[in-house]
Amino acid sequence: MFLKTFGRRIINSPALTRYNTLFTAPMVKFQRRFKSHDAGANEDHNPHELPSHGYYGTAEDDYMKLVLTLMLLPMGYYVFHQLQRFRDEADIRKLPQHLKVVDYYKAAADEIAGILEDEEHDDGSLGPLFVRLAWHASGTYDKGTNKGGSNGATMRFEPESSDPANAGLDLARERLEEVHKKFPGMSKADLWTLAACVAITEMGGPVIKWHPGRKEFDGTYVPPNGRLPDGSKGADHIRDVFYRMGFKDQEIVALAGAHALGRCHPERSGYKNPWTRAPTTFSNEYFKQLLETKWTKKNWDGPTQFEDPTGELMMLPADLAFIEDPEFKKYVVRYSKDEELFFKDFAKAFQKLLELGVDIHKSAPPVTYGDGTPPGPNRPTWSYW
Ligand code: HEM
Repeated sequence: MFLKTFGRRIINSPALTRYNTLFTAPMVKFQRRFKSHDAGANEDHNPHELPSHGYYGTAEDDYMKLVLTLMLLPMGYYVFHQLQRFRDEADIRKLPQHLKVVDYYKAAADEIAGILEDEEHDDGSLGPLFVRLAWHASGTYDKGTNKGGSNGATMRFEPESSDPANAGLDLARERLEEVHKKFPGMSKADLWTLAACVAITEMGGPVIKWHPGRKEFDGTYVPPNGRLPDGSKGADHIRDVFYRMGFKDQEIVALAGAHALGRCHPERSGYKNPWTRAPTTFSNEYFKQLLETKWTKKNWDGPTQFEDPTGELMMLPADLAFIEDPEFKKYVVRYSKDEELFFKDFAKAFQKLLELGVDIHKSAPPVTYGDGTPPGPNRPTWSYW
């Protein structure tokens, strides 16, 4: 009943009148002309007038036509897009070139995996530094202008290269430059981001879905300095920075879990020491430390930071914001209890971070390195689509 009343209202609406004038009237005209010709009937009807009866004429028929059109439009749209997707994927699979490209990325990733271990560097691995490089390259993204982010590897240029927040990352760029010499066919931005994904998996973390597609910019656009988070600040600042990139609270906390890795360097950030006792193993240890350790202000002449009772581990004021802010803390508690959930959420958020502002061909299958288990002789290291 309601539908009928509503239907009639639509039928009498100016939009449908236009629809009638455009589509129905010419059809009726054609049908009448055809009929009269066929049956030799007389034209006793003004051909410009819509008939009140007959196949094309009743309001119910118009109503059915409208309903059918409205039903078919989204279906048509869906089918069109599915077909386009299948065609794209089929194209990619058909191309032997694509297989060669994937093999190229595989070889580059194996090369990266091979240079991670370095006894001279910090705790024996370049992994944490590579993760920080990809994060800082991507973390300049501004969703308002769709500028910044990993695309273009703009950290090679001023002023980004000498942003104090990026101190120490020149070493990561140099090491990866050596890999790029062997794999000049991929962009440096693709190489930096792939290096972080390989490093995370090699350090026992989750597999990150990685898509190629970043370009090499010439330095005409370089994001301004000051877009990365400041370790001396709290929750409001963290939200300002990550909301600008398009992240929500849960994703921010998941990403911060990367502080299970690596350490602070007085000559780079002014801060000192690692966050966990296993800084080359990707785990949910950062969240456990945040909740289970008593953190007190470190007594020294450096910037304000917090230390555990042994004085060997540290937290930045920004790290403690994750347990001071109740909304953030909710996720810290969740991830401290469920490492599997943390791995899953981290992998998603990190993939998103690395793809901010990048026009990735989404229907192209991602390339993934490793299966998340620690390196060993029988581990399958590669899979794609
Ligand atoms: C609240 C936001 C964050 C702040 C304030 C922050 C701050 C810092 C600071 C001050 C350092 C020490 C740098 C040094 O002295 O060498 C550092 C290191 C590091 N950060 Fe963050 N960070 C944040 C978020 C992240 C995120 C989202 C990731 C990755 C997903 C990340 C990964 C790392 C890693 C792996 C290191 C260790 C680097 C190394 O060992 O050389 N951080 N961070």
